[in-house]
Order: sequence, then C-alpha cells, then structure tokens
Amino acid sequence: DTPAPRISVIGTGYLGATHAAAMAEMGFEVIGVDTDPAKVAALAIGEVPFFEPGLPELLRKHVSTGRLRFTTDLAEATALSDVHFICVGTPQQRGSNAANTSYVEAATVEVVRNLTHDGLIVGKSTVPVGTAGRLRVAVQSNLPSGIHAELIWNPEFLREGKAVADTLTPDRIVIGGTSAASEAIMREVYAVPIATGTPVIVCDLPTAELVKVSANAFLATKISFINAIAEVCEAAGANVTVLADALGHDIRIGRQFLNAGLGFGGGCLPKDIRALMHRSGELGAHSAVSLMQQVDEINMAQRQRVIDLTLEALGGSVLNRRIGILGAAFKPDTDDVRDSPALNVAAALHLRGAQVIVFDPEAGTTAKKIFPTLGYADSTDEAVTNADVVLVLTEWPEFVSADPVRLLGLAQGASVIDARNCIDRAAWEQAGWTVRSLGRSAQPTAGRPVFVPA
Ligand code: UDX
Repeated sequence: DTPAPRISVIGTGYLGATHAAAMAEMGFEVIGVDTDPAKVAALAIGEVPFFEPGLPELLRKHVSTGRLRFTTDLAEATALSDVHFICVGTPQQRGSNAANTSYVEAATVEVVRNLTHDGLIVGKSTVPVGTAGRLRVAVQSNLPSGIHAELIWNPEFLREGKAVADTLTPDRIVIGGTSAASEAIMREVYAVPIATGTPVIVCDLPTAELVKVSANAFLATKISFINAIAEVCEAAGANVTVLADALGHDIRIGRQFLNAGLGFGGGCLPKDIRALMHRSGELGAHSAVSLMQQVDEINMAQRQRVIDLTLEALGGSVLNRRIGILGAAFKPDTDDVRDSPALNVAAALHLRGAQVIVFDPEAGTTAKKIFPTLGYADSTDEAVTNADVVLVLTEWPEFVSADPVRLLGLAQGASVIDARNCIDRAAWEQAGWTVRSLGRSAQPTAGRPVFVPA
C-alpha cells in the first residue's frame, strides 16, 4: 500500500483556502502557502479573511488537528508534499481584456524550483487556453536535476457563497493532460466525491482549460440573454419573471441563471468573458469574440438602465437627493464587491451629486475600502430613512423579506427600484410604493385588466 499523497495548495484566496480545507476534510495532510503573511496568520488560527458560509467551521476543524497547516514558506510546503495545487488568481490585465497569467507562471516555476522529490503539479486557476501547454515547458526547464514532475490541469467550478459544498460535492471533476500515473493519483485525491458518483472527465490540457472558461461564458450568456428579453418584456408590457419561470420548465433550458436585472459581476464572470474574447481573437475564432462582446455590452447596459430609472424616479436629477441603496455585494451570501454592479451604480449616482446611503449585511466593510466617500448605513431601516428613492441592488434575503409598510413610514419618497426582481411587487404596491423593475411593465401590478368570463 502506497501512502496517501500529501497535498500543498499554492495561493489561499477564495479558491485555495476552500480547496485546502476540503482536501483536509477528504482525509489528506494539507499545507497551504501564500505570500501574504497576514492571510497566512489568520488562516493558521482558523480565521477566514472573507465571508464564506461554512468555511470557518471546516477550517478550524482541521487546523485544530494539525491536518491542515498554512505557511509563507514555499520550500517547507514542497518538501512536505507530493501533489501541488496552483490556486493563484488570474485577474484582468490593466488596460486590456486579457487575463494576467503571471501569478500562475511565477507560482508554478517557484514550486518546481523548490521540489526536493518528484511531484505532480495541478493547475486549478482559470487560465486562457494554451497557458498550461506553455507552463509545461517552463516546468521541465526549471526542474532541479534528478527530480521529475508532471503538470496537469484540473479546473475548479466553485461559486462564492456555496464554495464549500461545490468543492466537497462538485458537479464534475475535469482532469486534463494526465498520464496513467497522474490520473491514478487524481482519482485517489478525489476518491471521496468519486465514490458518491461525481463524474470524472479525463481530457487533454486545452480542453480542460476551456471547459472552465466556457462554463462561465455560458452562464454569462444566459444572464445577458434574459436581460435582452427583459428589455423586450418591458417595452411590450410582459413580465420577465413569469416568462423565465415558464422557460425554465423546459429541461433543455433550465430555470437557473435566468434572473433578469442588474446583471453579473464578481471576480470571475466579467473577467472570464473578456479573457475569452481576447484569447479567441488571438486564435482567430471570431464568433466567440463577437458573442462575448455582446454579452458584456448587454450586461454593462443594465447598470446604466438602473441609473436611468433612478433619474426618472427623481424627475431627471439626483443632485442632493437622498438615495437608499440596499446591497453592495455582487450577489448575496458574500462580502465580495469585485466588479459589483451594485457598488458601480451607487458610485455613479454619487458622482452625479446624489447623497447615497448604502447598506449591505456583509459587504459594508469591503465596500468602504474601495469607495470610502459613499455614505454607509448599519441597517436596512437606516438606509431607507428619509430616502427620496430606494434601490434594491443585491437580493439579500433580509431585503426580500423587509416589511414595505414599515419602510414606507421611514422613507421620504415612495419609489423603489427593484433591480433584482426580488421583492414582492404587489405587496410593496399595496403598501403605497411605486415599484419599477427591469423587465416588467411600469404599470402597477394591481392595475392590470383582469379577464372576467361573461
Ligand atoms: C461563478 C460561477 O458560477 C462559478 O462556477 C465559477 O467557478 C466562478 O464564477 P460566482 O462568481 O461566485 O461564480 O457567482 P455566480 O453565482 O455565478 O453569480 C455571478 C453573477 O451573476 C452575480 O453578480 C449574480 O448576481 C449574477 N446573476 C446570476 C444574475 O444576474 N442572474 C442570474 O440568474 C444568476
């Protein structure tokens, strides 16, 4: 019996921290490495430097037994492990749509140079197709003498807010570029989810890289598709939410990712579609370029739509008007505000001279770091108090269930813009609010003609 592979995880952001904790949960000895000493110090005592439901508990459980450790010392990690997961970021490059792969390249080369025994290097980061092939060359040319290493790709599909469940019980496991030996190691590493029926797709390197990128591109396309239809709905007096429900019953379409509204943001979807646009252009694959351009444009236009609706609700100018903004995170269940449509809208209104008061149940602190000049509230009530107009920009459950009668008593005006189609429009209208939503007619719900049989 060969001993179980020991695991290192390079990069302990969202992906790496979750992956490290999940690997420990699956029974392995894991060491996480990051260049940021503050992050390592926090994780080492079981503290997660971001909001992710369930992750602090999982981390503490395995940190306390010593099965999971964190270090800034890469050499220590490579000496103690056999399988090295590369989990560093690939942010959008400044002034370009391309993804910046320099962190992935640097991390891979550093791991290889520090190897003291043979190892398997597993790329998990989302990269432009072709990156792994290039890295393979770098791996071979940086190996210490007498040491052997293989590089394969194993993309990660986790969602923020559901990262733990997505990692412990993934929809599928994709492994690209494996030899018989490395495939066997990966099947051992993922033995737990494989035993419960998670399908494994074994493929070549470029396919593995592209599966990840296309999954995100498809999700983004679904969202922009429904937002394009929402525009038609609004113009024609149709209801996009009812329409999406009806579409979703067709299992070929499915209901998920058909919520019309302010569109997508976050650390992945926007940068991934732009990186795909860029890489497809380099490869001469122009259909993907124009499709992704449209998806991006439709998505960004949603933010402007909400700004326009706000102007409309305030009679053409937001100058010195008080705007209560519910939501700063790019979606609920996270404190992540990277490319957040909500904060983007808040900042744009602030720039136009509005007095903007933002409340988010989790993302207030991260939002304040990026946009310190906006006003922030500590509760929904505080954000709504004296507001001339209220904007619901992230569908946190506490906004969805807020009492419209109480809120109307606090507000100055009686206009709400439901940019996520998440509140009970009829209930808010009954309470006395004028509700505008993307993809639904401006007419009050109750005022619709009702067909009464003769
Ligand atoms: C995404 C992918 O879902 C995940 O598989 C991948 O690994 C990383 O990127 P994440 O960025 O966490 O995950 O967010 P996701 O849940 O996909 O939502 C992205 C954005 O789309 C959010 O801003 C959300 O508000 C928006 N969205 C989602 C919609 O506007 N409408 C929808 O119907 C669904």
